[in-house]
Amino acid sequence: MSVAQKDFIKVTTNSVQEMKTRGEKISMLTAYDYTLAKMVDTAGIDVILVGDSASNVMAGHQTTLPITLDQMIYHASSVVRAVNRALVVVDMPFGTYQGNSLEALNSAIRIMKESGGHSVKLEGGEEIADSIRRIISAGIPVMGHLGLTPQSIYKFGTFTVRAKEEEEASRLKLDALELEKAGCFAIVLEKVPAQLAKEVAESLSIPVIGIGAGHDVDGQVLVLHDMLGMTHKFNPRFLRRYLNLFEDITGAIKQYVEDVKSVDFPNDKEQY
Ligand code: KIV
Repeated sequence: MSVAQKDFIKVTTNSVQEMKTRGEKISMLTAYDYTLAKMVDTAGIDVILVGDSASNVMAGHQTTLPITLDQMIYHASSVVRAVNRALVVVDMPFGTYQGNSLEALNSAIRIMKESGGHSVKLEGGEEIADSIRRIISAGIPVMGHLGLTPQSIYKFGTFTVRAKEEEEASRLKLDALELEKAGCFAIVLEKVPAQLAKEVAESLSIPVIGIGAGHDVDGQVLVLHDMLGMTHKFNPRFLRRYLNLFEDITGAIKQYVEDVKSVDFPNDKEQY
């Protein structure tokens, strides 16, 4: 019996590489659940990141460290069910790949098998190159992540811009080359000076996707809940808010409460 082949992903790792080659910017946003992922995909985003920022945004933790592999798989599988077009990248959570390359491979395989995601993302440079190579050798595409890597927040001690000093900037450039050499199909660069991001993007043949890294990179990523204004006390300079949903949603809920209390809702037409 043959199974009809679904046109399952329209944007692939090859497509994003082609976008860089022809100078088309790559659009990327996070999503963690079916309903919002459906909207993001329908709107035509190229890449959806099931970020471990779900730890902050969905679960209310201060950092990304607490989220587990099972929780990431739950979020990713919800997103994958919604998506028809975008490439889905799933963050490997803290503690699931730093031990050794076999641990990294096993975690990546669980993500691919149990969520249906299309690729994984890991934070770090040269120190995780072996793990990246091993994951890729199993046929799993890997996105890298350098600069302000939130899983290392206790090492940095601050969320300020990374690599402002020459020594850290040189290390970052070498790490970027190492990630490309290890086989990453793209790299996220978070919160680094725009000039450094430009130099990194120019020095690599794979796409560099920035967040707080200026416009001279190959694409942009934002956390969906931040750009929709659902998170309201987070105002970094790089964030452009396209809506103010915190106010809109609390306003709608206040109205509903008033309508229930005053017996305005439900009216005669809203009942059987
Ligand atoms: O987890 C996340 O949302 C991320 C982006 C900030 C790039 O890694």
